[in-house]
Amino acid sequence: LFGQSSVRLERPDEKLTISRHIYGHFAEHLGRCIYDGFYVGEKNDSIPHKNGVRTDVIEALKKLNIPNLRWPGGCFADTYHWKDGVGPKTQRPSMVNSWWGGVTEDNTFGTHDFLNMCELLGAEPYLAGNVGSGEVQELTDWVQYVNFAGKSPMSDWRRKNGRDEPWKVKFWGVGNEAWGCGGNMTADYYTDIYRKYATFMSDWTNGGGLYRIASGANSADYNWTETLMKKIPNSLMKGMGLHHYAVINWNKKGSAVNYSEEEYFKTMKSAWFMNELVEKNITIMDKYDPKGNVDLIVDEWGGWYEVEPGTNPGFLYQQNTMRDAMIAGMTLNIFNNHARRVKMANLAQAVNVLQAVVLTEGKKMILTPTYHVMEMYKVHQDAKLIPITLQSTDFELNNEKIPAVSVSASQDADGRTHISLVNIDPKKKNKVRVDLASLKASKVSGRILTSDNLRDYNSFKMPAKIAPAVYKDAKLLNGAVEVDIPAFSVIVLEII
Ligand code: AHR
Repeated sequence: LFGQSSVRLERPDEKLTISRHIYGHFAEHLGRCIYDGFYVGEKNDSIPHKNGVRTDVIEALKKLNIPNLRWPGGCFADTYHWKDGVGPKTQRPSMVNSWWGGVTEDNTFGTHDFLNMCELLGAEPYLAGNVGSGEVQELTDWVQYVNFAGKSPMSDWRRKNGRDEPWKVKFWGVGNEAWGCGGNMTADYYTDIYRKYATFMSDWTNGGGLYRIASGANSADYNWTETLMKKIPNSLMKGMGLHHYAVINWNKKGSAVNYSEEEYFKTMKSAWFMNELVEKNITIMDKYDPKGNVDLIVDEWGGWYEVEPGTNPGFLYQQNTMRDAMIAGMTLNIFNNHARRVKMANLAQAVNVLQAVVLTEGKKMILTPTYHVMEMYKVHQDAKLIPITLQSTDFELNNEKIPAVSVSASQDADGRTHISLVNIDPKKKNKVRVDLASLKASKVSGRILTSDNLRDYNSFKMPAKIAPAVYKDAKLLNGAVEVDIPAFSVIVLEII
């Protein structure tokens, strides 16, 4: 039994690249993402680190060409007072992380630690400002502290704390989930608040360009997008956020590892809903901003399940199986195909939280299937989009159906074509004919990510159970490539 799909590649769009920022990540003060994740402390002598940040994690993320990293939240951002996280570490006040486990946050990891870590990673920082419980002055001071080269109270304080040059942070979130943990605001109320905060977040880079991002809709809350687009001038908003998680049911999320076929289908259906969300948001944005001045920023996405048994429910630590690889491959294809408006996205979250790319346990670190998808897809970063027309067979269960295959394609600066194909069907392989239309092709090679079982994952005992392998079964025929994608697999082809 197999499915049969076809895809046609158009000419590369000379004017449209897939922003590398679509491949962004997210690090919140949540569970073991920062503490005992990225950061193991400057005095740690058993785990190799640079200024307290794990070297293995840095190296792993650099191999993804990590373009940006969002911090410090999430819900945490609207409780965070950045001034408590700078200056001598022994003198920093502590706080309670009220959203995530009620643990004490001692502010050891603060602005300098994060921004210096971004420099190590070669990633652009995306700072999420506190709007929910902070003050306008507090946020404008933060911008001045990290970005101003001249003499000012904040830049002088930065110098006193050991950093002469400003970091020139471009990406700034104006609050997070303002409709929920960020203040339970209405769209109208947040719009006014946004305008005020954004106004006082001066561009201290002297014209370097501050890229202000509004806290976007909760999944299908289109009224939120509509209100913000209608009432916030383009001059104050460069990006409009959107959050959507692939979740079966918020009250019964199911195990990350032991899921039924029905649960698998429901997760995939929720992940595929991203396509509709992106399209409907773009339609609204096109209505108010036909010139495309405002970008769509999906600054939280990923699969969300029950935590691993025995772990703190507030820490959101979950394993990562081939199901997560399917979410990642499909979602990134959706973003690539909507590169006209989707300019940034942030997988939630980078380390030890939700759909992480990296998990750590003491000295050990493992790469998840999601990591491997991100690594395989990095060829699309800043490459020219190749528009596609896809006809896919369906993955059906209990009289419901979603497309089994998703595809996106791009051409890099050296003229190489890359096609990423995902078959989410858990049982049937899919024969896909890729019509290359006008593209010249003399050689095809590829890589595949799959496993024996859908529920397989990389564990600390078997860290390399799932890893990309060479894929040799693509056949180059007259103007087309034929690929047999096994069930629950991701393939990335390179055509020269
Ligand atoms: O990523 C975990 C949480 O999910 C974030 O803190 C919040 O913004 C969202 O609800």
